[in-house]
Amino acid sequence: MNIYAIPILRLLGDGKFHSSASIIEHFQCSRRTISKALESINALGIHLTKLRGKGYCWERPILWLNSDVVLRNLTSNINLRFFDLIILDSIDSTNDFLLKNLKIQQEKNTHIFVVAAELQTAGRGRLGRTWYSGLGDSLTFSLRWHFNHGISALSGLSLVIGIAIIRVLISFSIKDVSLKWPNDILFHRSKLAGILIELRGEVLGSSCAVIGVGINFNLSNKIKATIEQEVTDLFTITGEYIDRNVILGALLSELLDILIAFEKYGFVHFKKEWVSYHAFEGKRVYLTLPNGSVIEGVVDGINDTGELFLITAVGRNSYNAGDVSLRIK
Ligand code: BTN
Repeated sequence: MNIYAIPILRLLGDGKFHSSASIIEHFQCSRRTISKALESINALGIHLTKLRGKGYCWERPILWLNSDVVLRNLTSNINLRFFDLIILDSIDSTNDFLLKNLKIQQEKNTHIFVVAAELQTAGRGRLGRTWYSGLGDSLTFSLRWHFNHGISALSGLSLVIGIAIIRVLISFSIKDVSLKWPNDILFHRSKLAGILIELRGEVLGSSCAVIGVGINFNLSNKIKATIEQEVTDLFTITGEYIDRNVILGALLSELLDILIAFEKYGFVHFKKEWVSYHAFEGKRVYLTLPNGSVIEGVVDGINDTGELFLITAVGRNSYNAGDVSLRIK
């Protein structure tokens, strides 16, 4: 992407017309540079109105992420912990950013690193999939959390993060949201948000989780068409342009509460609540295992580590949250 593309969009974020000459003057660069940047903006799927004699206008600019607004919307526990929040214009993947910078000292969660991006150019989803989003149309962020216990004690972590997202959505009166095991967030049957957790550290010693969250806010038709599954976004659901900063503030507060409780009590503490949000509880489903084999059964809760119970032709078995996918019959 052209390095002037996002700065120009920030300039046009006032919704007013800006002439080419004033843009050139502002950035002290050539006409050719600006025209390359405008091509790049177009390639992002962003439409600018161009009027002869007036210049360019971004009629429906995004509400940019702003760390002050996010932090003002934190609701709890901020006296105990401190969020180190970085907002980037563009990055390959916020998870990769935190994983690459693991060496930054973080033995205790007194500083919790969070990175959010306006645009991810190589967002990653579960099972090696791509996570698609465009500039400002989603909330894409990652948070790093240090655990004193090893990776083996972290089963169920991704499920509790799903609970945090559901709690926040419900608190904003967004109804009919549910979870699909292990951690997809659905609105009816369409995917609204996803979670990608990547663990580093020792099996028994200490460990670190990079928790990546993507929530669709206002996906373009181009992005929707690229995604090979039913997706939705908060604008489609509510008809409103919800401020990502407000949701991020609320979500960071909820994540903090939930991670502290998860460390203390483990997944078992959340089991009942998780099942209450499960879209497929009691439903007949197919489960595709990593080896490609497919199991048919009726969903019958989860166990204390977050494994899914299915009642199958050969009995009631549990399946762990590895590379499995679930679809309703
Ligand atoms: C999934 O449902 O497949 C998980 C999607 C997770 C997407 C988020 S967006 C922020 C973070 N950075 C990434 O590259 N992925 C996660």
